[in-house]
Amino acid sequence: MKAILETKNLVKYYGTGENLVKAIDHTDIRIEPGEFVAVVGRSGSGKSTLLHMLGGLDRPDSGKVLIEGRDIFRLKDERLAVFRRRKIGFIFQSYNLVPSLNVWENIVLPIGLDGRKVDQEYVMDIIRRIGMEDRLHALPNTLSGGQQQRVAIARALASRPAIILADEPTGNLDSRTEIEVVNLLKNCVTEYGQTLVMITHDESIAQMADRMIVIEDGKVVRA
Ligand SMILES: Nc1ncnc2c1ncn2[C@@H]1O[C@H](COP(=O)(O)OP(=O)(O)O)[C@@H](O)[C@H]1O
Ligand SMILES: [Mg+2]
Repeated sequence: MKAILETKNLVKYYGTGENLVKAIDHTDIRIEPGEFVAVVGRSGSGKSTLLHMLGGLDRPDSGKVLIEGRDIFRLKDERLAVFRRRKIGFIFQSYNLVPSLNVWENIVLPIGLDGRKVDQEYVMDIIRRIGMEDRLHALPNTLSGGQQQRVAIARALASRPAIILADEPTGNLDSRTEIEVVNLLKNCVTEYGQTLVMITHDESIAQMADRMIVIEDGKVVRA
């Protein structure tokens, strides 16, 4: 099968001399369409740096990221931004909801920014799956952390991206809510045929994935 997401000899260093940090150090990974991959490793091992480059948020020093076979860093910044909005949904540990917008408005915001029409039925289907259909008009500050993260998940899914990249999405949640939220996310990506790459340092969350990629000092030590 053709990989949906691939890195080739990917390198990203920070600093120089004594302060040189090899955040990602000649990394090759390959992810198939529809996979749920957990990226694990100690704090500072390079997980977030890798995820940012996988999503085209950050350019590497050298090497490639291929999305559906396309070398994304050959795109100019503006084209890359458009490509990213269409192909990738991001979920971060901080929910980054807009405080003045209600649940529905937060979820459809990126679609509007992209100048596209909202597929109301599809978005409502997601909202029902995440169990937020009764809170459409609620403002973020009236929601629990778990609810806010569910809204952030719905926002990432709403534009139907092929790939969801999540950086410790449940890091701020208690362990029961955490499992619940990851289960919801897993069910959604399965239902919609999306590919999910999730950074976590929680063993029980990693166990829910199809496969684990272990990062140590910027290198893949197990895939
Ligand atoms: N913008 C940056 N400037 C300098 N060093 C950075 C920057 N981002 C990350 N690093 C360093 O790169 C290494 C990997 O960081 P990161 O990818 O955030 O690791 P992880 O997500 O696994 O905790 C760390 O040593 C971190 O301090
Ligand atoms: Mg990190």
